[in-house]
Amino acid sequence: MNAPLIQVRGLVQKIGGQEILRGLDLDVVRGETLVLLGKSGGGKSVFLRHLIGLMKPVAGSIVFDGLEVTRLRERELEPVRLRIGMLFQDGALFDSMNVFDNVAFPLRERGERSPAKIRDKVAESLSMVNMSGHEKKMPVNLSGGMRKRVALARAIISPPDVILYDEPTAGLDPIVSDSINRLIRRLQSSLNVTSIVVTHDMVSCYHIADRVALLNEGRIYFSGTTGELRACTDPVVRDFVDGRSGESVY
Ligand SMILES: Nc1ncnc2c1ncn2[C@@H]1O[C@H](COP(=O)(O)OP(=O)(O)OP(=O)(O)O)[C@@H](O)[C@H]1O
Ligand SMILES: [Mg+2]
Repeated sequence: MNAPLIQVRGLVQKIGGQEILRGLDLDVVRGETLVLLGKSGGGKSVFLRHLIGLMKPVAGSIVFDGLEVTRLRERELEPVRLRIGMLFQDGALFDSMNVFDNVAFPLRERGERSPAKIRDKVAESLSMVNMSGHEKKMPVNLSGGMRKRVALARAIISPPDVILYDEPTAGLDPIVSDSINRLIRRLQSSLNVTSIVVTHDMVSCYHIADRVALLNEGRIYFSGTTGELRACTDPVVRDFVDGRSGESVY
């Protein structure tokens, strides 16, 4: 089996006296799409932020392709962030830039200077998320779903080795959600992109996942294929997957 591209061990994070991550262990293999499930407020977004060094853990380690990410300084994190792209849950567009400039941003960051190349790439990326023709709009004038798709176009314009997607289909209609699921799979099959996808959308999960992990009480409670997830009889897993409330927020 491949050595994991990302290896997380014993990750602990506390915020305001509350232990959000309590010794999280997770391996992500090169080229796979791992879907991360877990209840709202459970620490999924917090976890993703650690992978690109936006948060430092209280304890534990994250090795990405041989690099201990938790010990890198801001300047040393730059090459990591070129290799790991993130689609933030809220889109996180630059409000002062129009759609075109938002999507072009990573290309320009990577030193691309040719206006023709930038124009072609932006057009291609926007068309992949069904957002062609909106280049001149400012983020404030887009719907929530449109903002999300623009953020996705920005995340994939210069495909990194790893893409972290935080709720890529939340708030989108079923047709757009389906096209985004296909896009995630296409990036994997054509470019061998490794992905971690946080979602509450079980339809999406079954579409895209090679493997599924369930974050529960600060640790990975379950990890397995979608087949193993379907067959799993553990009550915590079943409550989550079948959408029963149990003691969770749902
Ligand atoms: N910057 C922050 N300051 C204070 N508390 C935070 C911060 N970021 C996250 N938290 C807390 O950490 C916990 C986990 O939040 P997180 O956003 O990771 O949840 P989540 O699993 O992504 O939930 P959702 O599915 O609703 O997006 C929550 O209790 C949240 O209030
Ligand atoms: Mg979140």
